[in-house]
Amino acid sequence: MYKIIEFKTMGDCRGSLIALEDNSNVPFKIKRVYYIFNTKEGVKRGFHAHRDLKQIIIPVSGSCKILLDSGDSKEELILDNPTKGLFLDSLIWREMYEFSKDCVLVVLASEYYNESDYIRDYSRFLKEIDNG
Ligand code: TYD
Repeated sequence: MYKIIEFKTMGDCRGSLIALEDNSNVPFKIKRVYYIFNTKEGVKRGFHAHRDLKQIIIPVSGSCKILLDSGDSKEELILDNPTKGLFLDSLIWREMYEFSKDCVLVVLASEYYNESDYIRDYSRFLKEIDNG
């Protein structure tokens, strides 16, 4: 499951501000934040799913495309709006590409980094969702 979460923008004549809070506009306790930036031209990233991790991806600058694959269906989204976060539940295969030079993705994560939570092999992903 995935969904777009529209964040409320606090704007005034100086510009815009968005605040993110646990269990409020972020539907989980945030244990980790990381950001992806300076992605080289033509690079594709991701190519994995997570067994338990939930995430929100926010394109705070620039844009990229993301392919989301539930095993049954695939959809491509463009991430280009810093007021919208992409909530990704567990067990969604994702691939990211066509990063603009200025693209910065901030990612909020529900768990600490744990390599054993990753499914990096696509056929393994299909097996795990079948058995789920
Ligand atoms: P990876 O998840 O493979 O990046 P992407 O899905 O964007 O292609 O992570 C790249 C590297 O960074 C990999 O060696 C794991 C490491 N890493 C951490 O050490 N901590 C983290 O929180 C994350 C997300 C990655």
